[in-house]
Amino acid sequence: MPSLSVFGAQWGDEGKGKLIDLLSRDADMVVRYQGGANAGHTVVVGTEKYVLHLIPSGILHPSKTNVIGNGVAVDPFKFLEEVDGLRKRGVHVDGTNLRLSANAHVIFEHHRLIDQLSERWRGEGRIGTTGRGIGPCYADKAARTGLRVCDLLDPDHCAVRLKAALAEKNALIERVHGAEPLGLDAQLDRYLALGTQLAPFVADTGLEVRTAYREKKRILFEGAQGAMLDIDAGTYPFVTSSNTGANGISAGAAFPPRWIDRAIGIAKAYCTRVGEGPFPTEQKNATGDKIRKLGNEYGSTTGRPRRCGWFDTVAVRYAMEVSGADGFIVTNLDVLTGFDEIQAAVRYAIDGREVRDWPAATPDFDDIVPVYASHPGWTEDITRVRRYEDLPKNARAYVEWLEREVGAPIVMLSVGPEREQVISRGM
Ligand code: IMP
Repeated sequence: MPSLSVFGAQWGDEGKGKLIDLLSRDADMVVRYQGGANAGHTVVVGTEKYVLHLIPSGILHPSKTNVIGNGVAVDPFKFLEEVDGLRKRGVHVDGTNLRLSANAHVIFEHHRLIDQLSERWRGEGRIGTTGRGIGPCYADKAARTGLRVCDLLDPDHCAVRLKAALAEKNALIERVHGAEPLGLDAQLDRYLALGTQLAPFVADTGLEVRTAYREKKRILFEGAQGAMLDIDAGTYPFVTSSNTGANGISAGAAFPPRWIDRAIGIAKAYCTRVGEGPFPTEQKNATGDKIRKLGNEYGSTTGRPRRCGWFDTVAVRYAMEVSGADGFIVTNLDVLTGFDEIQAAVRYAIDGREVRDWPAATPDFDDIVPVYASHPGWTEDITRVRRYEDLPKNARAYVEWLEREVGAPIVMLSVGPEREQVISRGM
């Protein structure tokens, strides 16, 4: 398959980093197309743990081209910090294996500031953002007042645009939020200097990705966050500000939708969410605490404890359909070892009515009561299992039940954080 989309099929943190790292072995090019440094992809290689926020996970493999597409919101400071951190650990990173779209929008200091300040005004509507400036940056993109990477490479042009942007943002920062305004000269100097450091990486990535496809190179599109956090398809307004599934690829990587050959979702064997918003199968009880402890469910970007609950087939089926996914990968199956009983939502009861389809237009999810199916658990350690037949019978029964309910094949299972801890089922 020349092009493959791999995306989160829940609310993010599905373990994409490890899987994308693994699947990168068979790719020539790994492409990020949305999100920004709000993502946190954890990859464990031997005793080394890498947490990548902005740079595609393919960077850990020599001889892959890694692309940050035009749809990514790029914080230049975070980008360079990540490049530096990787280099210090002996990973080769330069303009030959890391390409940054000239059209990607830039996250400025004022975006980060406004992201953090505006959360305070939202009261119950608080989103619980990562505070990385993602929303305000995409808002400016849509308002056509944002600056792109190419703008940082042209001092005169950058000065004009940043001056206009800061005039408006400083009024907001000062008069609405009562905070200190940002000085234009200092910001301009800082971002132009960052632009100079970005220059070796900057490219027309859309052209490069399309050319690679025409040349029959294998391209892996790395989704960040999860489909249920998608700005259009997710639990709006408790979402991130980009299109997180395969639906984001064509706009965010300048890649024709009909050239996406295969799409694979990733879902945990249970479910987690960070930040606010609907999470029908959340377990605010000892079960949730146990999942958090066993799964070490703390955010890799913010360190926040994740909300934990059971697998939700209603949400995953919907997420898979929106992205036209051909199959999915189930991660963290080992975390469920030791539970007497494993539950998963099969339907929702809303006002006494049972539905099997995701209720997209529901403004308030408080009235939703998940209807669960119960499965007997297993006690055997499965972290060393590499062949599907060697899994305990109850684990296989759960996996096959998930496949039937979601309506798509599970092509791989992950049973631990290491690259090798996977069970392939036709991936
Ligand atoms: P933002 O993307 O920082 O604006 O945050 C919006 C929502 O998306 C918040 O609920 C965040 O916790 C969530 N979010 C953003 N990035 C991630 C991620 O990589 N994993 C899980 N949740 C995320």
